[in-house]
Amino acid sequence: MAQADIGLIGLGVMGENLALNIADNGYKVAVYNRTASKVDEFLANAGDLAPNVMGDGDLAKFVSMLKAPRSVIIMVKAGDPVDHVIAELRPLLEKGDVIIDAGNANYHDTVRRFSELDGTGIGYLGIGVSGGEEGARHGPSIMVGGSPKEWQNAEEVLKAISAKFNGEPCCDYLGTGGAGHFVKTIHNGIEYADMQMIAEVYGVMRDGLGMSPAECAEVFREWNQGPLDSYLIEITSHVLDAVDEKTGKPLVEVIVDQAGQKGTGRWSAIEALSLGVSATTIEGAVAARSISAMREERIAGEKLYGAAPKGKAKVDLKTLEQALLAGKIAAYAQGFAVMAKASEENGWNLPLDRIAKIWRAGCIIRSRLLDQMSQAFSHGTAANLLTQPDFVEMMKDSHGALRQVVADCAMAELPAPCLGSALAYFDAYRQGRGTTNLTQGQRDFFGAHGFKRFDEEGDFHHEWPSLVAPQ
Ligand code: 6PG
Repeated sequence: MAQADIGLIGLGVMGENLALNIADNGYKVAVYNRTASKVDEFLANAGDLAPNVMGDGDLAKFVSMLKAPRSVIIMVKAGDPVDHVIAELRPLLEKGDVIIDAGNANYHDTVRRFSELDGTGIGYLGIGVSGGEEGARHGPSIMVGGSPKEWQNAEEVLKAISAKFNGEPCCDYLGTGGAGHFVKTIHNGIEYADMQMIAEVYGVMRDGLGMSPAECAEVFREWNQGPLDSYLIEITSHVLDAVDEKTGKPLVEVIVDQAGQKGTGRWSAIEALSLGVSATTIEGAVAARSISAMREERIAGEKLYGAAPKGKAKVDLKTLEQALLAGKIAAYAQGFAVMAKASEENGWNLPLDRIAKIWRAGCIIRSRLLDQMSQAFSHGTAANLLTQPDFVEMMKDSHGALRQVVADCAMAELPAPCLGSALAYFDAYRQGRGTTNLTQGQRDFFGAHGFKRFDEEGDFHHEWPSLVAPQ
């Protein structure tokens, strides 16, 4: 008999925890997984939540457990697996039912899936879910895209399972089509930049200042009491504090210096480039992961050029903290600028203030600064974060520190691609007279692309000398 309020397909770590979260909030949830034994395991381990969970390893039986109109969350690996699940599910669903893709989908796929379901009467929502395993279980941040009608139907349960910031659910409807997955992609791009800048600062502490992991951990713990207060800074201190059971060494020194990437950071950079918006901190972070993966080449490079000298940094810890703050503001300014432009191009009308609001708890980039950002954007969403009064003050106070740290890294031969990009972005953003007048001259020279003049309206071309040698 149909009795479940909602269904969930995909009992990976995220799906399993999301299902328990739904059950914990008093909803009856039915689960399905391609490997049927996973369903049995899940049901057997549901403990106190057993009365609210049910499921089957047969898809048709799973669907028959759902109350109509049916809502089915898909939490499988992004890409082809989502299409396979939709293809199998479609014949079993009816008009009015809704599929909710909660994975890290590429938003272009989400847009395509909307159009493929168009006219079938089956609704679709693309939702970005952030917060990792713990967030999925106890309250993630949820970024919703799709039609307002589907949102109305799913709103109650999605808000119930989301994280709360001062009682406010960190779940909101952001726009039509792929808006939710686009915002999640940019969330992850910012996450990459945030993490990379923290890693660069750790590099200064470790190689430039000769600090031990435990000493670094202590500094991050202190910073977490100030303006940098955030989940990522908090977990950094725990990662640096952990001791490897096998060797007794700090765990961070046993972990290989090669970072993986599943794609969302790269997509963020690609979207920014396609939209013509500068997101150099995100690009820098993606590139840093790529170069981290080339470990053998890096080791060979160190042999060729010699290792960077140790203990050459001169900055103090206060300066490092301020530099990280300035870098972080620049990265968020870029991320929000990408969303503002995408909103314009796609007619989404993305509410930047509400995006900042639902990122204040539950998600990986949650931080004290996001509360200030939500207030800043509530005065109007068009402008860059760097123009918002509170942030102008913060940047005025901290860009000098960023400058010092980037210069120090350069002289100490320590790579700081993300902090360096943040500084270059800031300096370019506040440079009233740039240098692309020269670029325009060059373009006109070789391609007659034309240029504009300060003193006259219109497009101009100059008769440049020919460089072809006379015959
Ligand atoms: C989140 C995380 C989550 C996941 C990333 C990791 O918001 O909960 O961002 O989505 O951990 O996919 O991405 P990488 O594997 O690319 O680092």
